[in-house]
Amino acid sequence: MTQIDVHLTPDYSARALREDVRAGLTADPKWLPPKWFYDARGSELFEQITRLPEYYPTRAEREILRTRAGDIAAITKAHTLVELGSGSSEKTRLLLDGLRDHGTLTTFVPLDVSESALREAADAITADYPGLEVHGVVGDFTAHLDKLPGEAPRVVAFLGGTIGNLLPAERAAFYASVREVLEPGEWFLLGTDLVKDPATLVAAYDDSAGVTAEFNRNVLRVINRQLGADFDVDAFSHVAIWDPDNEWIEMHLRADRAMRVLIPEIHLDVEFAEGEELSTEISAKFHRHGVEAELTKAAFTPTTWWTDTKARFALSLWQAT
Ligand code: AVJ
Repeated sequence: MTQIDVHLTPDYSARALREDVRAGLTADPKWLPPKWFYDARGSELFEQITRLPEYYPTRAEREILRTRAGDIAAITKAHTLVELGSGSSEKTRLLLDGLRDHGTLTTFVPLDVSESALREAADAITADYPGLEVHGVVGDFTAHLDKLPGEAPRVVAFLGGTIGNLLPAERAAFYASVREVLEPGEWFLLGTDLVKDPATLVAAYDDSAGVTAEFNRNVLRVINRQLGADFDVDAFSHVAIWDPDNEWIEMHLRADRAMRVLIPEIHLDVEFAEGEELSTEISAKFHRHGVEAELTKAAFTPTTWWTDTKARFALSLWQAT
């Protein structure tokens, strides 16, 4: 059985893009939020990134899930798996397999902003997991965590290290909103990339094949298509730097020459100076003590902290206090 609840108005995403582009491109320094990388081409480029030799997080997290999915099932005895973002990936299936084999799982609740991606994922999971109730929610995980369906105890999973895209204050608000929808005793499963030597980190975001550079520039293509803008996409260079104070990778697009960009759909003209950098993504990296401090503050109790064998990435399980 598949059911999809839509908590977004049809123009939610179009309006959010306009607001974000106006806010970010009129700010100093300029910025754009990373969620706009992911149109069909951007999602395909991200898939390619996950297979690059330099980009270890996906493989590291998959290794942990492969070895620990059974433990997660045994500890949580979850009836419902809620997954924020993604939904059809191999990693999701590793978790579903573990929970199903343990015999407690009845319902899978994928939540995603893209209705088309969600329907595709929900259909694929329904086909491969007979008897599993798939109840998708179209929504924004930073805004629509209320009304999560599914029978308790639930595990809310937020994988891939996407938590790193949020600023510390946004992270705190997000953890609080997850805690808000859970009853005491329910579960939160979090994937976090870990602080390591800067060369390894920078290489993961500046690969030699240039895939991440294309992914980064793709946000300009999205704005050109959706808002009629005339960004000369190839006049921007990809920059990935490690910020040691904030412990995050920052991706920028640097204007190779001075230019003026017209964005007719929002009646905006934007000037770039030669060398000016536009910030497109932060990807924060974590230490165990930092994650524990933040989750404990949000009224979660630590249960387990697993890493891959090379200790590059952590998967941690938290119980609502
Ligand atoms: C999907 C947010 C986890 O931050 O590593 C990959 C996105 N950006 N390469 C990350 C990304 C550049 C990725 N997340």
